[in-house]
Amino acid sequence: AKPVIVAIDGPSGTGKSSTSKAVAAQLGLSYLDTGAQYRAITWWMVSNGIDLDDPTAIAAVAGKPEIISGTDPAGPTITVDGVDVAGPIRTQEVTSHVSAVSAVPEVRSRITDLQRSLAGAAERGIVVEGRDIGTTVLPDADLKIFLTASPEARAARRSGELEGADVNATREALIKRDAADSSRKTSPLAKADDAVEVDTTQLTLAQVIECVVTLVEEKR
Ligand code: C5P
Repeated sequence: AKPVIVAIDGPSGTGKSSTSKAVAAQLGLSYLDTGAQYRAITWWMVSNGIDLDDPTAIAAVAGKPEIISGTDPAGPTITVDGVDVAGPIRTQEVTSHVSAVSAVPEVRSRITDLQRSLAGAAERGIVVEGRDIGTTVLPDADLKIFLTASPEARAARRSGELEGADVNATREALIKRDAADSSRKTSPLAKADDAVEVDTTQLTLAQVIECVVTLVEEKR
């Protein structure tokens, strides 16, 4: 069978990662978390004292860190210059700076190239999750999904994942990050015209997974 390429986009807290990983595992496909790549380059910038208020400074070093993503859905990995950063990329510090770093065009073109080469190398196909996969990274994907959910549902899910998180503060931070991601000039968070929109507010994770698996199978 020819490799199948699935693009899953949407704002934070809609269940993109859990859904994408499970769909890839069920169908024997590779899996790529593109948010982890933007978090990884942001972690490197923070660790190296780059001035994150200065897009020119960010652009100047965008090509420096070597970012390697492991695409097995059973245990996705991410390293920067050989260092395992799976834990450090989830801190508040990285989360609060990632939108600024990922808005810089030099960062996006660099990471987009990585994403396209990983997608091209996946023998059986791949599920790629992010914000601009259907619109920019893989416009010819076989299936594009756009996941949404109410801000309340998204904040509740996210604060459930973070230790000691306050739901109201989480909701405000999410809304702020989505606004930044949706309004940036280069490749903003957006639904592709040919994407299938799935509102997950009233659905369980198992229902969302089943829905996406069915849509992929229809394409094969
Ligand atoms: O998905 P996650 O919340 O880990 O993504 C972190 C951030 O990475 C997003 O808020 C966004 O700024 C950036 N991102 C992006 N394009 C993608 C995936 C993530 O700009 N395709």
